[in-house]
Amino acid sequence: MSLYDIARPLLFRLPAETAHSLGHTALRLSQQTPVRRLLAARYAVDDERLHTEAFGQRFPNPVGVAAGFDKNAEIPAALAALGFGFVEVGGVTAEPQAGNARPRMFRLREDEAIINRMGLNNDGAEAVGRRLSRRDVDIPVGVNIAKTEHVAPADAPADYRRSYEAVADGGDFFVVNVSCPNSQGFEELQNRDAMAAIFDTLVDAGADPLLVKLSPDLPEPAVEDTLDLVAEFDLDGVVATNTSTDRPASLRSPNRTEGGGLSGKPIEGRATEMVRFVAERTDVPVVGVGGVATAEDAYRKIRAGASLVQLYTAFIYRGPAIAREINRGLLDLLERDGFDSVADAVGADL
Ligand SMILES: Cc1cc2nc3c(=O)[nH]c(=O)nc-3n(C[C@H](O)[C@H](O)[C@H](O)COP(=O)(O)O)c2cc1C
Repeated sequence: MSLYDIARPLLFRLPAETAHSLGHTALRLSQQTPVRRLLAARYAVDDERLHTEAFGQRFPNPVGVAAGFDKNAEIPAALAALGFGFVEVGGVTAEPQAGNARPRMFRLREDEAIINRMGLNNDGAEAVGRRLSRRDVDIPVGVNIAKTEHVAPADAPADYRRSYEAVADGGDFFVVNVSCPNSQGFEELQNRDAMAAIFDTLVDAGADPLLVKLSPDLPEPAVEDTLDLVAEFDLDGVVATNTSTDRPASLRSPNRTEGGGLSGKPIEGRATEMVRFVAERTDVPVVGVGGVATAEDAYRKIRAGASLVQLYTAFIYRGPAIAREINRGLLDLLERDGFDSVADAVGADL
């Protein structure tokens, strides 16, 4: 029995966002003390077969923390100590935002899922940029950049550029988030012309490596359009996927009627299919995210073409040992199937 087996029922009595804030605070406090080294000794899995390279960055393992978990870049060091191979902080916007009214994050326990409509609450790109420039962490840290809520879609490119310039020095890679379902005007960003204008501006500003994050709800022709742009602007990778506004008929939890983006188990299959669709059509690295909770889940995305995976929802349901569990399990699966490294297994099912 782990400590989290004891803590989880207590945390789950609290509103989801309160429990998340508590966990976040505990990690923030721990990273300033020797506890950080103890955590690393307990959770980090150091094995050459897990070492991965993508878009010019070296990752100690392919299991990362997805955007939204550490919106303000306060705990990358603690997440590294928990054994994650990278962190995507943010989403950040050019101006600080309070986000939507609470409650805005809901557990769907029976479905091992979350629905959130946070609305991109964050301290703003300048504050996050300052924090990142002081960071003390030896894993790659990416920055997820989104549009400031009140900015009209036509002015989005300049808004993304402002954010990028504020975080440029502190980030190891940058992710254009045009797929947030919880903030106004985002539907209008995921079309060809709007994305082209944003990529053009960010490339011109020097954003590199630059990735784009897709919605799992995007129809295939729109994904193909995006991939044309990835080639045209020479982007460095694709993150698939964000949360979904769909509500599969299989959902059982009473909270399934809440508005917002669905994450966790119910989107796992869909996200993996999106990874496969993208990997079949492009040579750039794909970051697979959506419902990854076990080594088998991570391995399915890797075999479908993901060079790296990320998770958020499973951290809440499975606790802080999740990266260790997945990394250890991945080593077993690589051995079972005769692969020498994670890189060898990438796209094995294509
Ligand atoms: C509470 C919450 C906040 C999130 N915030 C962001 C965000 O700011 N930017 C973003 O691109 N994705 C955000 N996401 C989406 C995650 O990064 C991820 O793409 C999605 O949750 C699917 O992964 P999962 O099933 O492992 O949770 C958020 C997810 C959750 C649950």
